[in-house]
Amino acid sequence: MLSTNLTSATAPSNPGEKRFLEVKDSKTGKIIKINVEEGNAIRSVAFEQLDLVCLDPGFMNTAISRSSISYIDGEKGILRYRGYDIEELAEKSSFLEVAFLLINGELPDRNQLNLWEERVTKHSYLHENMVTLLKQFRYDAHPMGMVISSIAAMGTFYEDANPSLQGSDLFLKGADKDCVKVDSLRFKQIYRILGKLPTIAASAYRHRIGKPYNNPVNNLNYTGNFLYMLDRLSEVNYHPNPVLARALEKLWIIHAEHEMNCSTAAMRHLSSSRVDPYTSIAGASGALYGPLHGGACEAVLHMLEEIGTKENIPKFIEEVKQRKKKLMGFGHRIYRSYDPRAKIVKKVADEVFQVLGKEPMIEIAVELEQIALNDPYFKERKLYPNVDFYTGLVYKCLGFPADYYPVLFLIPRCAGWLAHWIESLEDPEVKIFRPKQVYTGIDHRKYVPLNHRKPAQANNADALRSFISPMSKRRSND
Ligand code: ACO
Repeated sequence: MLSTNLTSATAPSNPGEKRFLEVKDSKTGKIIKINVEEGNAIRSVAFEQLDLVCLDPGFMNTAISRSSISYIDGEKGILRYRGYDIEELAEKSSFLEVAFLLINGELPDRNQLNLWEERVTKHSYLHENMVTLLKQFRYDAHPMGMVISSIAAMGTFYEDANPSLQGSDLFLKGADKDCVKVDSLRFKQIYRILGKLPTIAASAYRHRIGKPYNNPVNNLNYTGNFLYMLDRLSEVNYHPNPVLARALEKLWIIHAEHEMNCSTAAMRHLSSSRVDPYTSIAGASGALYGPLHGGACEAVLHMLEEIGTKENIPKFIEEVKQRKKKLMGFGHRIYRSYDPRAKIVKKVADEVFQVLGKEPMIEIAVELEQIALNDPYFKERKLYPNVDFYTGLVYKCLGFPADYYPVLFLIPRCAGWLAHWIESLEDPEVKIFRPKQVYTGIDHRKYVPLNHRKPAQANNADALRSFISPMSKRRSND
């Protein structure tokens, strides 16, 4: 057993006194002192002195870095980007302004914003080979697969941005390096990614509906141009509805960043190997796609469709409590009270409904939320709606197919990922991510040649066969 004394814990007797843990290993009697650093952090590596490893599946209590990009208070339901409340940013800022804030740490002044918008906008055209690549996907390919592959492929167009070709410290600053050059190179990739991603995403959408891809235009803002690329048919001067473009922009602002979640951690993980940012973003996008993360929005819609009517809600809630089902769009690792983004989405929903009419499934969602919020099962576990609970309904009302929702999450989240990329490049403590494992396998055994082996004792022996398609059966000579 380990015993731990927290010395000068919450209220140090002497304010100048350093806080530390004193940990005693009952097996060896060895005592170690671990300093408590800024942010109530202790170094796991200290336990190596006791020959111990910290086991933390799911990173329940492990910080992988220090970060000054966004702040969440899960108990109070607060989310801030660089110190600014998310509610104020959603109301008053544009998406590109927020992207500037996240990546550079401060809100831009007018000139900086103009330059930023101009640079991003001028990087929105796709190379024709990228267009050809997109066109090769099956007519019904999932748009996330198309977008993720295209982001990875983007890296192949920019030799100058590939540390594997140019040197592993390509994006790092150092005594012998021209820092302005390094910053310019970093910004070039940021402009390319922020600029081209909406074009790739819009092309994936057009591919799905069998329409020719639209080129971007420079006279609309970020979301306006995106809606233009989605929706322009033969109009010479098509203009998307400004209320809808602004509604989408608000959703993108609140989706731009959310500290060290699954996909951002993936972004940091991949970047720690110093791979190019396109590959890192493709990897982070893969993490985002999962139904427990950015894919939840799509899953919420399927859940509401399955529930079908208000009358079926109590039965569904019972099934959730019996753990047969999951209430998608509810619960969060960090928020233990209402997710502040969910409140903003509810307001945006009203703005969109005023233009396009109410999405009928909202009635089921509101009722489901009320029943869950008043049920002891959800109260005890502090389960509240998260950002995905209502977002899917807004996207449905806006006419997006459900499998496109994760793409609408991915586009804005790139701003946050890029901010983390820059922050990790500037962090002198960053090392390649290499977690440990606690090995539970066989210690050592002798190799048996193939002809002398007995059949492997596998629980899944039947599944090894996988399933055989009717076509394979037809072709089989057995
Ligand atoms: N429905 C029913 N029960 C739930 C739900 C839910 N949505 N979420 C958590 N619980 C229960 C768990 O069963 C568990 O109960 P127990 O203590 O009796 O075993 C308890 O609440 C704690 O849940 P955990 O799974 O331990 O919480 P964790 O922090 O690991 O998971 C997560 C968080 C993945 C978001 C989870 O709440 C979930 O799966 N929610 C549904 C998917 C979803 O909406 N994801 C989007 C998150 S927001 C985003 O990524 C943008």
